Amino acid sequence: MTTIGFIGSGRIGGALAHLAVAAGHDIVLSNSRGQQSLQETVALLGSRARAATPAEAAAAGDVVVVTIPVRAYRQVPVDRLRGRIVIDTLNYDPERQGAVPEIEASGTPPHLLLQAHLPDAQVVKAFSTVFFKHLPQLTRPPGAPDRSAVPIAGDHPTAKTAVAALIDSLGFDAYDAGPLAESRRFAPGTPAQLAYLDPDGMFAAPARPASAADLAALLDKANRP
Ligand SMILES: NC(=O)c1ccc[n+]([C@@H]2O[C@H](COP(=O)([O-])OP(=O)(O)OC[C@H]3O[C@@H](n4cnc5c(N)ncnc54)[C@H](OP(=O)(O)O)[C@@H]3O)[C@@H](O)[C@H]2O)c1
Repeated sequence: MTTIGFIGSGRIGGALAHLAVAAGHDIVLSNSRGQQSLQETVALLGSRARAATPAEAAAAGDVVVVTIPVRAYRQVPVDRLRGRIVIDTLNYDPERQGAVPEIEASGTPPHLLLQAHLPDAQVVKAFSTVFFKHLPQLTRPPGAPDRSAVPIAGDHPTAKTAVAALIDSLGFDAYDAGPLAESRRFAPGTPAQLAYLDPDGMFAAPARPASAADLAALLDKANRP
C-alpha cells in the first residue's frame, strides 16, 4: 500500500484517485480552492481519502501526482518535493488550449517543465496520454490479454520502478519509453497520444485497449521525419 499525494484533483486527478482507492492505496487530495471544496469528493472516495493543502499533499505522498493545468506549474511547492517521486501528467497543447507566453519564452521544452521546476525531485511522466474518462474503462487485472500499457519516461530508475509498480496496481502495464526527454514521443500531437482512442469515435467512443507492442509502434512513429 502506498500513500499518494495529489496536487490537482480535477478530471485526471479525480479519476486516478478513484483507481487508487479501489487498489487499496491511501490518498491525500489538494486543489487550488482549498480543502473545503474537496469534501464531497473525499466523502465519495471513503476513509482512505483526505483533503489537504498542496504542500501537505506533497509531504504526505510516497508518490505525488502533479496534475494541474500546465500554466500553473510554477505554483507546485518545490521544497516539499525535494527528493520525492513525482508523477507528471501535464500536457502543453497550445493548438487546443492556447499558447502560454511564459512557457513559450522559457526556452524549456514543455515536456521537461515540471522537472526543471523541481530539479531535486524524481519526476516520472505518466498518464499524460490517457483521456480521463478512459482511465476506468481501461483497467484490467495483471495478465489480462487486453490489458493496456501506458508510457512512462524519467531520468531516475528507482522512481520509474516505483511508478511502474503503482501503475500495475492501478490496472495497467508501464511501458518504459526511456529518459524524461523521450516523453516528447508521447506529447500532444504525437501518434502515441491517440493510443486508446477509437479513430471513428475519438473521445466520445469507449476506450480501445493498447498493448506494449501497440505503444512501441506508435512511439516509433514519432521518430520518423
Ligand atoms: N483531462 C484529461 O483527460 C487529461 C489527460 C491527460 C493529461 N491531462 C493533463 O493533466 C493535467 C490536469 O488535467 P485535468 O483535465 O485533470 O485538469 P482539471 O480538470 O482542470 O483539474 C485541474 C486541477 O488542478 C487544480 N489546480 C489548479 N491550479 C492549482 C495549484 N496552483 N495548486 C494546486 N492545485 C491546482 C485544480 O483545482 P481547482 O479546481 O480548485 O482550481 C483542479 O483540481 C493537465 O496538465 C492536462 O493537460 C489531462
